[in-house]
Parts: sequence; structure tokens; C-alpha cells
Amino acid sequence: MNFNYNNIVKDVNPIVREKSQNVQLPLSTEDRELLQNMLQYVRDSQDEHLAVENNLRPAVGIAAVQLGVLKKMLAIVVPDEDGNNIEYALVNPKIISESVQRAYLKHGEGCLSVEDEHQGIVPRAARITVKAYDMIRDEEITIRAQNFLAIVMQHEIDHFSGTLFYDHIQKDDPWKPIPDAIVIE
Ligand code: NI
Repeated sequence: MNFNYNNIVKDVNPIVREKSQNVQLPLSTEDRELLQNMLQYVRDSQDEHLAVENNLRPAVGIAAVQLGVLKKMLAIVVPDEDGNNIEYALVNPKIISESVQRAYLKHGEGCLSVEDEHQGIVPRAARITVKAYDMIRDEEITIRAQNFLAIVMQHEIDHFSGTLFYDHIQKDDPWKPIPDAIVIE
């Protein structure tokens, strides 16, 4: 079974604030199907035609909690430097190191679970190293992510602790520039 935007748990539902648990490997059939469907959502949501036809709000990533499943699984589809899509379907991802340098998206972040506007800078680490099992490659991998990919990874991994992007926005001055941070257009 596949899902659409109506199946996405929004932040009015307290489950999005709960903690996700580690997933047992090898993946059960059920977990594998869920992660595959999550990946398919993100892929299809980036296709203008499919997105409209199937009611998919466009996304670059999704976490299992956004389907009401408190398990550490996420899917990401982002363009690399050459414009080719790079895909991950990660289980139990863990950030093992991060740069002191910050980076943020110039226009702020969005989230499938967030319908209200929350404008402002979301500071993230500019570079991170992540260890995870990747279902697409069927192996444990180490990802050295920077800039946009690093931001998307941190956003999705935040979901595992019940954190949403707007929790990171400075309330008194949401657009206050961060010294020495990389600004991503
Ligand atoms: Ni999100």
C-alpha cells in the first residue's frame, strides 16, 4: 500500500514529539515495505505530474514517525553537485561527528508535518558524518554529508527525537544572521 499527503502525521498530533526506537536488522518485511513506500513518496513527490495526481506534497526527505511509526527509518532524495539525484533509505542513522561551522538554508526549512508558517534561520552543522544501514545499498555505510544534504539529514534525524525545524529558530530575531555560517540558496 502506498500513501499520500493525507496520511502524513502533522505536528498537531503529539506522536511527532515522541522518540523513535532502533530498528532490528535484518529488516522485517513490514519495515522494509514501509521504508520502500517512504522512499517512493519522496521520489514521486518531486515529479510535478505524479505529485498533483497522487496528492503528494513535495519533499526531499521523510521520517517514519511522520507515518505514525516510531522507528528510526528515513528516506532522502536530493540532487548532488552535478544535479543527479542521490538517494538514501537509512535505518538507525547516527551522527558520529559534526563540524563546528554552521550552515542554513537562506529561506528557512519546511516539513511535511508542518502546515503553519514558521519563518526564520534554522542553524545546522555544515558537515556531518553519519553511520547507518542503507536499504538501497544493503549495507552499513558511512556518509560524509555537507551543505544541503547535511541539512536534510539533520532535519530528518531530528524527527527521531521529536524535534521539529522551528524549535531551532530564534524566537526574538528569527532572521538574525549567524557569523561564519554557510548560507545555502
Ligand atoms: Ni520534517
